[in-house]
Amino acid sequence: MTAIPLRPPRRLVDLTLDGEPVRAPEDSTLLDACRAAGKDVPTLCQGDTLTPKNACRVCVVEVEGARTLAPACSRRVEQGMEVRTDTERARHSRKVVLELLASSTDLSTTPRAAEWIEEYGAEPDRFGADAARVDEEPKVDNDLYVRDYDKCILCYKCVDACGEQWQNTFAIAVAGRGFDARISTEHDAPLTDSACVYCGNCIEVCPTGALSFKTEFDMRTAGTWDESAQTETTTVCAYCGVGCNLTLHVQDNEIVKVTSPHDNPVTHGNLCIKGRFGYQHVQNHAQNRD
Ligand code: SF4
Ligand code: SF4
Ligand code: FES
Repeated sequence: MTAIPLRPPRRLVDLTLDGEPVRAPEDSTLLDACRAAGKDVPTLCQGDTLTPKNACRVCVVEVEGARTLAPACSRRVEQGMEVRTDTERARHSRKVVLELLASSTDLSTTPRAAEWIEEYGAEPDRFGADAARVDEEPKVDNDLYVRDYDKCILCYKCVDACGEQWQNTFAIAVAGRGFDARISTEHDAPLTDSACVYCGNCIEVCPTGALSFKTEFDMRTAGTWDESAQTETTTVCAYCGVGCNLTLHVQDNEIVKVTSPHDNPVTHGNLCIKGRFGYQHVQNHAQNRD
């Protein structure tokens, strides 16, 4: 059972979404209101455990009377607001965002990216073969996780999760400016020489698969990664008395990665190295039998 933290009651505000009246708690975002109303607004940099960064702008909607489009993931609802989620202007903006991202990075492991590209009629190829791409080999410098910055959209979620918002380790940050901007350890050192403590909380929030478990990376490379064949079981970490929730992703009777429920009021999807990566003893069968 998940404990629901008590908080003071929230006033409801009235607004309209695409002409339909809706009510939403006063400190909720337009995205919260859209989702409660069953509207499918695309998001990339938004994270349910992080403060919005407004980095991607794929979630923009039109607010009556506002000069510019508003990012639904961070704009709060207001009494009397009139919001349109599917205007030509909002759709065009999402299309351009998707074109720019898909022409410069590899979105092949970003959930729903292909669907949105089709839905908004985005044409990433129109920038030609010379479109600026990261084009670098995945960084495989440890046995636990891989950084494939060809897939990075510079959403900053990993930096925030590693830094002040959750882990307070500050192992990674944005280095460079403009086209040279990228996520990096200090002096671009291998993770093994950095401040990283291998909590994997950056993997948990990465929306594109740029950061992934080494198991997932290896299985994707071998063509054996199959989410439709995986089961998810949420259990309790047995390594210490904190009792964090672990969700074990299992394929062919092997744990292939570990996540943590984002709605857990204590951990909010975060774990330490033991909970995230210390599962090998469960399936280290060959060695255990010897
Ligand atoms: S594993 Fe943890 S410490 Fe290492 S970069 Fe990711 S969030 Fe930071
Ligand atoms: S590595 Fe992932 S979480 Fe970090 S900035 Fe890139 S896309 Fe975002
Ligand atoms: S999801 Fe809203 S700005 Fe990225």
